[in-house]
Amino acid sequence: MPGMSKPPVVFPIRIEPAGWAFDARADETVLDAARAAGYLLPSSCRNGTCRTCLCKLASGAVRYTIEWPGITTDESDDGWILPCVAAAESALVLDVPYARLKSEIDLLLEQAKKRARRF
Ligand code: FES
Repeated sequence: MPGMSKPPVVFPIRIEPAGWAFDARADETVLDAARAAGYLLPSSCRNGTCRTCLCKLASGAVRYTIEWPGITTDESDDGWILPCVAAAESALVLDVPYARLKSEIDLLLEQAKKRARRF
């Protein structure tokens, strides 16, 4: 129908071992989708070079948003991905033991700021 835009393609994502679940659009990185949903995955450069975000893809398929992500073919074949430059192409299950709730980190930062103000 003219004037109507298509709804975005969205896939369910699960982060193990915590069991957290959220949706990711096909046009955003898994890292960004996780953050928007309140979950922080380890990251640093966010451009696919530092490998801080390297994690295991337990199931599903991703595509990379850059031409040369910093991951070898052997690593990819073994199920490793870089979620900062990976977008979902299906439902995903990721193994990210160091994932954290954004609210938990925000609380820790606020407590650290309060302690710093005392000195
Ligand atoms: S955060 Fe650096 S490669 Fe993903």
